[in-house]
Amino acid sequence: MDKRFIFNLITFLVTIFASVQADNQFYYLKKCYKSDPEVNECLKRSSNYLIANMRQGIPELNMYEPEPIIIDEIGIALGNGPDGYRASFRNIKAYGVSNLTITAVRSDIESNQFQFTFYIPHISARALYESTGVLILVQATGGGSYWGEYEGVKAKVYIKAKPVDYQGKTFLSLQQIKMDFSVKDIKMGVENVHNGNSVIQAALNLFINSNAQDLLKEMKPDLKKKLLMIMKNFVENLFSNIPYNEWISE
Ligand SMILES: *[C@@H]1O[C@H](CO)[C@@H](O)[C@H](O)[C@H]1NC(C)=O
Repeated sequence: MDKRFIFNLITFLVTIFASVQADNQFYYLKKCYKSDPEVNECLKRSSNYLIANMRQGIPELNMYEPEPIIIDEIGIALGNGPDGYRASFRNIKAYGVSNLTITAVRSDIESNQFQFTFYIPHISARALYESTGVLILVQATGGGSYWGEYEGVKAKVYIKAKPVDYQGKTFLSLQQIKMDFSVKDIKMGVENVHNGNSVIQAALNLFINSNAQDLLKEMKPDLKKKLLMIMKNFVENLFSNIPYNEWISE
């Protein structure tokens, strides 16, 4: 082979490679097919592939740094009456959610219903809290910082969508989103408690840790509402940027 031929061949291959790259606008997804008998497995792989790309950032979707997740505020109330304990947690930063793995997908492609089960090995949360009232005989009015370590987080998210046509292409539009989650092991506590002393802080921490699952249950309604809002924005961003047949094709 002469040098000229090799040079032409290389130029040709480089050109092809460059055009494939440019064509693949949705490089962060793997396309699934309706006729695939294992379509749920495919959707699972595709979702995990998307998540792996999100960790690196996807500028095309305006996704840059996936960590932390920030929640402005959630509140809990235990007991009623004037001395009932109320706490609000502000400026919550949660680290570790981007380490999630989708472990199962169920779908009804025809009616655009999907259920994702996912697993997050570990979430660390930090927040500021303020509280009023009495908690187990301790006057717990005050504030400070809150920390939580959540081990083995499992969640299910249900999505119902509707196809809509826009500029000659079909997109999905989110109709409904629901979620639930559980945490296998929780460790949490408060620090830098102001208007308090070390005895009160120790009493609070003892109570918090022996009742972590019950406290989470109390936080859940508010937490779910905030998480659903975050997920709704996330899903709507994906749906409005990615045509339906890039996800699932005939
Ligand atoms: C994600 O998981 C890896 C491996 O377990 C760990 O080193 C890393 O700290 C985790 N990331 C976050 C933000 O928790």
